Amino acid sequence: MEFNIALLRGDGIGPEIVDSAVEVLKKTAEKFGHKFNFTPYLIGGAAIDETGVPLPQETIDGCLASDSVLLGSVGGPKWDSQPPANRPEKGLLGIRAALELFTNLRPAKLYPTLKDASPLRSDIAENGFDIMIVRELTGGIYFGERGRREGKYGEEAYDTECYSRMEIERIAKVAFETAMKRNKNIISIDKSNVLESSRLWREVVHEMAKDYPEVTLTDMLVDNAAMQLVKNPAQFDVVVTSNMFGDILSDEASQITGSIGMLPSASLGATTRGMYEPIHGSAPDIAGQNVANPIATILSASMMLKFSFNLTAEADAIDAAVDKFLEQGYRTADLVGSTGVKPLSTTEVTAKILELL
Ligand code: IPM
Ligand code: MG
Repeated sequence: MEFNIALLRGDGIGPEIVDSAVEVLKKTAEKFGHKFNFTPYLIGGAAIDETGVPLPQETIDGCLASDSVLLGSVGGPKWDSQPPANRPEKGLLGIRAALELFTNLRPAKLYPTLKDASPLRSDIAENGFDIMIVRELTGGIYFGERGRREGKYGEEAYDTECYSRMEIERIAKVAFETAMKRNKNIISIDKSNVLESSRLWREVVHEMAKDYPEVTLTDMLVDNAAMQLVKNPAQFDVVVTSNMFGDILSDEASQITGSIGMLPSASLGATTRGMYEPIHGSAPDIAGQNVANPIATILSASMMLKFSFNLTAEADAIDAAVDKFLEQGYRTADLVGSTGVKPLSTTEVTAKILELL
């Protein structure tokens, strides 16, 4: 089969890790007899430098014309002085909105081989965990009304959390469908003891649950969820939550796996076109040094094959190569911890995974 993939390398370590994943995709295509065509487009700081804006129209058009999008990461101190509307992050939020990617799937699982890299106490890590965070991605406080105004105490700023019934329904549906393919267990995370938007969230998720009698649905307040993730992560199967809570909790979930450098993500909408990216950022401190861990991006490419192209065997082959890489004791700088193992560089990791494919 033939697919067109838009590449948004972005900033910092973005170009290095995307190039690594592209190598893996090329090898997979060769092995299974497919053809992947790659077209790069600008986003984030790199786009600001070239065109003055973080999300050129050409990038939006190119992504819309592609079968899927692979993204590195955006942002860095170089663009911190940009006005808010022109920050690199605006490019990322803009492309999520332009492609109507309202679902963000962020799997966080503890690889048995990486238990020692997890900051969790060993008796907790021993139980392992495999969580699928279903984060709403195009609504909530990220996209609500915001601004500055004169208030009771002088200048004030505000951001608004707003969710419509429709937005909650469609993300809840994804969560229930996802749960049906897993352990049929959903924890819906909100702050309904305080927020009205959370109260509607809870109401709608419970209405949806009636269509999925086999799924066990539990509500959890977000502050408690932050504690439970480190106390007993094994209790989570599918988590469904809002844009901001999902942003925060997915970073927490990634850290307990041992490294944020391992976690892929898929952003999906109503079509098969998705955007795939590691959940980590642009890591400007290590950019260009050939030390970044490309595994999260490689696993994101694998998610693309599975979720957008329905190439399950191909995706499994990539995941298996990563498993073998870890089992054979290879580590990247972020995973070395106290093991004393000599870390592999980005290009060495890529070469090793290509060999194991
Ligand atoms: C993420 C990032 C983004 C987000 C930033 C860069 C806008 O943290 O993908 O988790 O908050 O969604
Ligand atoms: Mg984040």
